[in-house]
Amino acid sequence: MNNKNTLEIDLENVPTHIAIIMDGNGRWAKARFLPRTAGHVAGVEAIRDIVKKCSSLGVKYLTLYAFSTENWNRPKLEVDTLMNLLAKYLRNEAKELHSNNVKVNAIGFTDKLPAKCRVELAKIEDLTKDNTGVNLNLALNYGARADISSAIVKIVNGCKDGSIDIDEIDENTLKNYLSTKSIPDPDLVIRTSGEQRLSNFLLWEVAYAEFYFTSIHWPDFKPEELEKAILAYQGRDRRFGGLK
Ligand code: IPE
Ligand code: IPE
Ligand code: MG
Repeated sequence: MNNKNTLEIDLENVPTHIAIIMDGNGRWAKARFLPRTAGHVAGVEAIRDIVKKCSSLGVKYLTLYAFSTENWNRPKLEVDTLMNLLAKYLRNEAKELHSNNVKVNAIGFTDKLPAKCRVELAKIEDLTKDNTGVNLNLALNYGARADISSAIVKIVNGCKDGSIDIDEIDENTLKNYLSTKSIPDPDLVIRTSGEQRLSNFLLWEVAYAEFYFTSIHWPDFKPEELEKAILAYQGRDRRFGGLK
């Protein structure tokens, strides 16, 4: 408890699951006359303190949108840089994440990532699999539409081979075939850098999430900014379609 915001946060009403669209690395770099790559390096740095802050506040799930199914459309050099940074992040942070009791898990079509990323992911998931602290979900080659489509294909195949009864299909059936099946829906979605859109992130799961947008670029999103987002969340009235 070292500053005012921390004192104001109601620790009994911290979001269980925070999902963040980490946007604005490129604009952060541009504002400093640096190459976009420098923005991505700074963006990776920002992750460490946010994970720690989530640990100390008791946030159970943190999902970070790191690479979308549409991000392959960027220049090859930028994609290569992002993949190299990802592999390096996973390699360099594994020990500290593990010592902080963080459990790392990837969502998205990770089989399409370069081998070096897949190897590091498998290692860190295995290393941290029994940890009981923050669940850090990394959305990598993730796209909600592709995730939903792939779930539907699996369900249709299940109907064809008789393992799924068509009359039994409901919302939970679909949820169970999404890559987020073992993660509760986000309570709070944060997007940095000013854009107010989802960019194909967790479309099914955010049905009743609260949204928080800030103009701060991701590399400048410090723990104090997370506190502001949580305070805003705590001021919201979540009705889920019912009445008070
Ligand atoms: C977010 O920053 C990182 C990824 C999408 C991988 P951007 O690279 O999108 O930064 P801007 O939006 O161009 O500033
Ligand atoms: C969303 O950001 C994806 C990630 C943060 C990984 P983008 O920068 O790719 O989204 P758009 O293109 O502005 O919608
Ligand atoms: Mg962007």
